[in-house]
Parts: sequence; structure tokens; C-alpha cells
Amino acid sequence: MPSFAVSPASPVAVSADLVLLPFHEGRVAGPGVPEVQEALGGDLMAVLKEHRVTGKVGDSFTLPTFGRLKAGSVMLVGLGPKEEAGSTAVRKAALKVSGRLAKFATVATTLHQVGDDPGESAHALAEGVTLGAYRFDRYKERPIDEASREPRRLKRVLVLGGDDRKASRAGLKRGSVYAEAANWARDLVNTPALDATPEYLAGQAKEMAKAVGLTCKVWTKAELARGGFGGILGVGRGSANEPRFVELTYRGAGDSQPIAITGKGITFDSGGLSLKQPEWMETMKDDMSGGAATLAAMRAIAELKPKVNVVAAIPFAENMPGGSAIRPGDVLRHRGGKTSEVLNTDAEGRLVLADALAFLAEKKPRVIIDSATLTGAAMIALGYDLWAVMGTDQGLVEDLLAAGRAEGEPGWELPLWEGYRRSIESTIADVRNVATTRYGGAINAGLFLREFVGDVPWAHMDVAGTAFIDTSHEFWPKGATGCPARTLIRYVEEQAARGDGASRRARA
Ligand code: BES
Ligand code: ZN
Ligand code: MN
Repeated sequence: MPSFAVSPASPVAVSADLVLLPFHEGRVAGPGVPEVQEALGGDLMAVLKEHRVTGKVGDSFTLPTFGRLKAGSVMLVGLGPKEEAGSTAVRKAALKVSGRLAKFATVATTLHQVGDDPGESAHALAEGVTLGAYRFDRYKERPIDEASREPRRLKRVLVLGGDDRKASRAGLKRGSVYAEAANWARDLVNTPALDATPEYLAGQAKEMAKAVGLTCKVWTKAELARGGFGGILGVGRGSANEPRFVELTYRGAGDSQPIAITGKGITFDSGGLSLKQPEWMETMKDDMSGGAATLAAMRAIAELKPKVNVVAAIPFAENMPGGSAIRPGDVLRHRGGKTSEVLNTDAEGRLVLADALAFLAEKKPRVIIDSATLTGAAMIALGYDLWAVMGTDQGLVEDLLAAGRAEGEPGWELPLWEGYRRSIESTIADVRNVATTRYGGAINAGLFLREFVGDVPWAHMDVAGTAFIDTSHEFWPKGATGCPARTLIRYVEEQAARGDGASRRARA
């Protein structure tokens, strides 16, 4: 991944292969353009007009400098209307041009000067470039770089000028920590389920924890049995790969109440005996995206060291229809004692999360947040761009939505509609794992999860649409996006910046 640094050089004299400069819709020059035009002796905005480049976010135009600048090329990148241009436009533009930056080893830019917060814009620039540089080629005979005629050379990004170098430097650092964590989550999700078993992911968590200094405990199958984790064990029964439960602790604020996070870690979702159709199974290695994002968030948190405590507990299991698999009609006893009647073994995410939520609630955290590729219904409601969020605490839901917006990873709220609660009543257990109707499926799943959080303020993010892209998309290549890792990191940092945990509870 490229490294980022602040440089005092001018765009004309900087030692780089490419100078990347912003402009706005209507061909309004951005920072750095006047100096470069003077050195080139031409009107760059007129050149854009001639070539009908308008300035939508990510539009770009590259031209040679014929030795008039130290850099061999200049790339102009569009940022949309000037009035709206801020960190979100910078991130989008960087994501969109990242492919075109690849062949230049050193890129110098003034993009971080766009908008009124140089820290945020530098953060977004580092994120856009780092996320855009991501490739998953470890299963190719030859790495994409080696095989292509245009190898990826990008090593260094220099940001030039601006009034607040300190804020820019801090933003670049944070942005790369966020994006590298998200890219790690993408690696875990993109790795096929043949290799990314619960045991493998627990091993990855342990390695990560050791590298960044987190406490990590991995629960084995026998320990889960002793602890009463009937949901995780039940879902894992049909697979030859045993389940694991990963507990991670970050201490940044003495013994104050922690923020608790969990994520769905189904390493493959075949549906179990309620088997999925083949087409619906194709992407189901992505069913541990919430768990991967939770691991990635813990990694970034350990690196950024916010003043807050965070505890994570992630259930990993594989949902397969082996001879020991659970059957429709079975009843599972979850951590804490509540039971669920399993009428559809393909509604397995809520079964493993129930144990994790009950376990985290025992720790009396200030809030619990879960993220999960939980329902096709969330995907149908909101598509690939928006995750769904629902929760028992409006302040928490709004904080998550704000964190997502700031990260260019937006969500939308769905209601925990009380009227649907009766549709998950069970005749023989405390609750049934599918509702009596398939309509409102994302909400029904949320209502099921709510049963296990006690009185702890809680929010659930359904990332079924946003965690994995299997179609052509404006910003993402096919595969994992890392969502919602960056939203979680941002939420935790914002809470730490706000200071105290007690007020959080009072708002419930
Ligand atoms: N992992 C799936 C949800 C999913 C679907 C994620 C598509 C990403 C893309 C989940 O375990 C599931 O199978 N949900 C069922 C629930 C139903 C049986 C109540 C669904 O959404 O169909
Ligand atoms: Zn699933
Ligand atoms: Mn399923």
C-alpha cells in the first residue's frame, strides 16, 4: 500500500511522477492549478473545455508537462460542484482515479486542500487511495502486477501545501489506518471458505491481537459447550469445521464501561438443511463480513488508541447440512438460557449472534453494536449502497448513521416495529428464528436479536447489501468492501472524543 507524507514543495518543483490537481464542475480551478498553469504557459480549464471534461466527481484528464514541471504529467480530477466539495467528494474522486494513478510511483497532490477541514480531507484522500489500490490476487498463478503490462507502481503520495500541516499529517495517518484495516477485512472476506474456516479466522484474530497489543481469548467447541453457547454450537453442528468464539479486549480508559461490538461470522452459509439454491450460495463466503469488520475495527482501535474501552466477541461457525446438522423444528438453548425454535436453518446468523449478544450484555457495556450480513430483505430494501440500522437507543442509531456518513459509508434506519413482534412468537420455545411471514424480514431479524440484549442500549447493522459487491459498481471492484469497519472505527473514535460513558446510558 502507498505511504503518505506532507511536503513543503510547490507543485511545479516537487519531485514526483504525477501532479494530481482538483477542479470543480463548470471548470473552476482548484488549489495548485494557477501555479501549474503559469509554469505550463497555458489555460488548463480551456483544455478541459476543449475535451469536454465537465468536472463530475472522479472525471479526469491527464497531460504531459514537456519538462516545464519537474513531474512528467499532470492529472486534473473533477470534484463536483464547488459549494458541495468536501471530504466525501475527495474520497470518491480518489477511489475513482486510483486505477489511473497506479502507473506513477510518486504522486503529489493538493486534493487535501479541498473543503474546509484539511484533517478530514487528508483522511479521505488517504482512504480513497488506499482502498482504491486494493487487489485480491493471492489465488492467481501470477500476481496481477506481474501479469499485466502496466504494473502498479504507486508507492508514495505527497500532499502539498495547505494552511494546517499538522492536521493534514494526522488526517493522512488516520485515513491509512482506517483503510488498511478495511482492506484487511476485505482479505478475510474474499478468502474462500475452504481456507477461511472458523479456526483460521480465530488464528488471524490471535495474530492481529499479538501484533497490535490486544488481549485475545479464543473459545473452543468444548469451552462453548461448558459456557452454554447453544446457538453457535447448533449452527456449527453440520460442518466438519468446528466453531470458535473470539473475544478481544481494548483498554483505553481505565475501568469505565466498554463499548461492546460483535459481528456475524458465518464462514459459509449453505443454508444448512434449509439448503439455499446454488445461485444464492455463490457469494456466501461473505457471511462473515460483520465478524471481519469487527476484527478490523479492533485492529484500528488498538493502533489509534482512543480513550475508551472496547470489547469485541465474535462467533465463527460454518452453516452446513452434514449428518449432525440441526433440523427444522429443533430448539436451541442460548447463552443466558433463552431458547429458540429453529424453523429454517438458513436463518442462522441470528442464532449465533443471540449467544454473542447475551454474552456481551453480561459485561454491562455502555452500548452493544452488532453488524451482520443478516437478511436478503435488507439488501432488497436498500441495495448495495446503504446498510440498514435499527436499535433500542435513538442516540446510538444516530451516532452510527453520522459515523457512516463521515466515512462515506452511509446507512439508513429501519424501525423495530413492535407490531411485528408477535410474528416471532414460538409455540414451544421463547422465540422462533423465522417470522410467520417473509415480509419485513430485516425488521423481524432485528426483533429476534433484541430479545438477547437485556436492557443494554443496542443497535444492529444489517450489511447484507454493502459488505460484498457481486455486480459492477461505481466505486468498488467485485468482492468485499470492508463495510462496516470504517464506520465502527469512526463511531468509537467519536465516542472517545466526546469523553464520558455515563451520559451515553442516561440517554437510553
Ligand atoms: N446470509 C443470509 C443473508 C444474505 C442474503 C446475505 C443475501 C447476503 C446476501 C442469511 O443467513 C439468510 O439466509 N437469511 C435468510 C433469512 C430467512 C430464511 C428468514 C434470507 O434473507 O432469505
Ligand atoms: Zn447467513
Ligand atoms: Mn442463512
